[in-house]
Amino acid sequence: MSSSYLQPITLKNGLVNIKNRVALAPLTNGQSHEDGTLGEDELHWLKMRAEGGFGTIISCASHVSKTGQGWPGQLGIFSDVHIDGLKTLARNIHEHNAILIMQLYHGGARSPEYLTGQSPWSASKHLYKAGDKSIAVKEGSEYDIDQVIDDFVNAAQRAIKAGCDGIELHAAHGYLLHQFLSTETNQRQDGWGGSLKNRAKILTTIINKIQAISQENFVIGVRISPEDKYTFKGIDFDDSLVLAELLEEQSIDYLHISTWDAKKTPEKYPLSNKTVIQFFREKCKIPIMVAGEIWTIEDAENALYEGADMVALGKAGIGIPNWPKLAENEHFQPNKPPYTESHLQNAGLSHKFIDYMKKWAGFVVN
Ligand SMILES: Cc1cc2nc3c(=O)[nH]c(=O)nc-3n(C[C@H](O)[C@H](O)[C@H](O)COP(=O)(O)O)c2cc1C
Repeated sequence: MSSSYLQPITLKNGLVNIKNRVALAPLTNGQSHEDGTLGEDELHWLKMRAEGGFGTIISCASHVSKTGQGWPGQLGIFSDVHIDGLKTLARNIHEHNAILIMQLYHGGARSPEYLTGQSPWSASKHLYKAGDKSIAVKEGSEYDIDQVIDDFVNAAQRAIKAGCDGIELHAAHGYLLHQFLSTETNQRQDGWGGSLKNRAKILTTIINKIQAISQENFVIGVRISPEDKYTFKGIDFDDSLVLAELLEEQSIDYLHISTWDAKKTPEKYPLSNKTVIQFFREKCKIPIMVAGEIWTIEDAENALYEGADMVALGKAGIGIPNWPKLAENEHFQPNKPPYTESHLQNAGLSHKFIDYMKKWAGFVVN
């Protein structure tokens, strides 16, 4: 019997079969075109990961509104002009018997005016600190909220038209849906703010509407940051556990927990003998995917042992395109960063992506 991460998994009561439990985490890579259409380099690097055995390929955060873009060269899904590229992507991923999940996102406060031509908006008015700059962020109007909900639903519709297997709503890492969940960036007094249920309403409304337009085999996942990290504040760990229950009641297909370290205990309970994953596992039964410093077979096995159903590899997926295939050998030891530029080129990264990775301390050899 092969190791648990290589075991298949089914979602949606058996309607979706995935050949293993190893996913490529969503990774912004700057390799698409200025108008958001799929770039050859983005196609190439993702295709290589499907070829390398990842059962699930999650796209980079793809903006659902033109004004929701956060990074140059980001893949877009806000217009029908994007559908052809996504069809090509889906076809290439399916050729290797993997599934394609599009990560849908809007940057909110973190969509800079130089990219979008508009000053950013969020749940509430606030000052967003980007490095040494402070950016004034407007409070979204009812119209903005209705519009962005439609944008998420239309983006999911495009993913369906393109033949993708599902979508993942990016409600983590300080972007718009996360800004609504946070008590720091959401101080609204109306139905979109206040209680956790209200702060989650934009997310739950989007899920409802996507469920209404999609077939029963279309996967809907949600990615969350379960606790504060870096400069983004306002998420309470216990609230996140309640959010998981809310999402389970809404019958999402998987919950993706972004911990940045799958082995960690919650910041709120540093003396606990339980990891973040174990807390979530005790709280809900929905399939859980976890990401964060999974490099070795042992890391993957531990995460699954503690209650995750799938693991998502970020940096390991960048440096080792065929991690799942190599991990068929129980003696596999990953080659860890720093990587040389030629190693990364061989791993299917363009110069643009390599330059981007130079910002991640210790990833690329100086
Ligand atoms: C270059 C890079 C780009 C990323 N882009 C995204 C993204 O588009 N969406 C997202 O949810 N997370 C993004 N992340 C976070 C990863 O998905 C992952 O959660 C994180 O890197 C921790 O996993 P790891 O330790 O295996 O890298 C990014 C991380 C890196 C290194």
